[in-house]
Amino acid sequence: MTQRKSFGSDNHAGAHPAVLRAIVEANSGDAVAYGADDWTARVTEGLRGAFRAEGGAFLVLNGGGANILGLSILLRRHEAVICADSAHINTDESGAAERLVGTKLLTVPAADGKLTPELIAGQLSGRGDEHRAQPGVVAITQSTELGTCYTLAEIRKVADFCHANSLRLFLDGARLANAAAFLGCSLAELAEGVDVLSFGGTKNGAIGAEALIVMRSGLEADAPYLRKQQTQLTSKMRFVAAQFGALLQDDLWHANAAHANAMARRLADGAGAVAGVEIVHPVQANAVFARLSARHIEALRRDWVFYPWDERESVVRWMTAFDTTESDVDTFLADIRKSAEVSRVT
Ligand SMILES: Cc1ncc(COP(=O)(O)O)c(C=O)c1O
Repeated sequence: MTQRKSFGSDNHAGAHPAVLRAIVEANSGDAVAYGADDWTARVTEGLRGAFRAEGGAFLVLNGGGANILGLSILLRRHEAVICADSAHINTDESGAAERLVGTKLLTVPAADGKLTPELIAGQLSGRGDEHRAQPGVVAITQSTELGTCYTLAEIRKVADFCHANSLRLFLDGARLANAAAFLGCSLAELAEGVDVLSFGGTKNGAIGAEALIVMRSGLEADAPYLRKQQTQLTSKMRFVAAQFGALLQDDLWHANAAHANAMARRLADGAGAVAGVEIVHPVQANAVFARLSARHIEALRRDWVFYPWDERESVVRWMTAFDTTESDVDTFLADIRKSAEVSRVT
């Protein structure tokens, strides 16, 4: 196992020390289980305020769980979800939306991972036809799986289109913090027009803590029961809440995300200047997608952890985290330069 910083995923990072301290502090005596504790009350109220959410906040254990809970709140039994083909719910959740929610995903190829009203409209032709799954929800991801961010105006356009067409809008915010840091806006601004969204803590310095934010009052009624049924109501909830408490304190979530984004920018600027390396998507959050030769990838992967993204296109994904240092990036860049030269020699 390499001691070098992994560029494979922000999930490879450990926990932020403040999160660990908060867990230790919460470990004081007994607390009533299943979220009926003071930590959970404080944190859900804090999240509710930060998002200006009328429906409330529900803590869960992981991003996949938040997605399942969010979609199941919004969908009727015969309804389908329109999403980008690159959406995590489509590519990386082992068919959970189909299997556990029982929905159909209507996927759309989306440049830079972003849906637009035009792309959504292309999936509405089967409306009113009883033979077709009826689109009920649009799911977007912020920041996207391709490391890009919707602007506030882009989200507003998608939301307006959804609501004009009786579609509800779900947002997968596993990396919402990175988008807020990139756009320089508040969590409440990012959630405007969205019906239900997730807010990720795990990729931002927590061990395992995500929140499902219900923006509209009335939509939250089934959430407690669905969360329990979906095994996301953990008994020792105070420790999940404590993690979020640490991230919310003095906006640590924002500092962590801004730092991870800056490290991705540094990496992209350096790597993009190396002959034979092409940055293929705008770098707006904490992911860098780069095209380089197969030989170059192979040489780099001998010493560094990162993953191919599209082997046919020879594209890899490099991710940074809250604890990636400038020196980690510079050491990686030095090897990217060195191995570029070596892999050009035949
Ligand atoms: C955009 C997005 N959503 C959801 C998830 C799921 O999170 P988890 O692995 O915690 O279930 C991930 C995980 O990488 C993700 O990248």
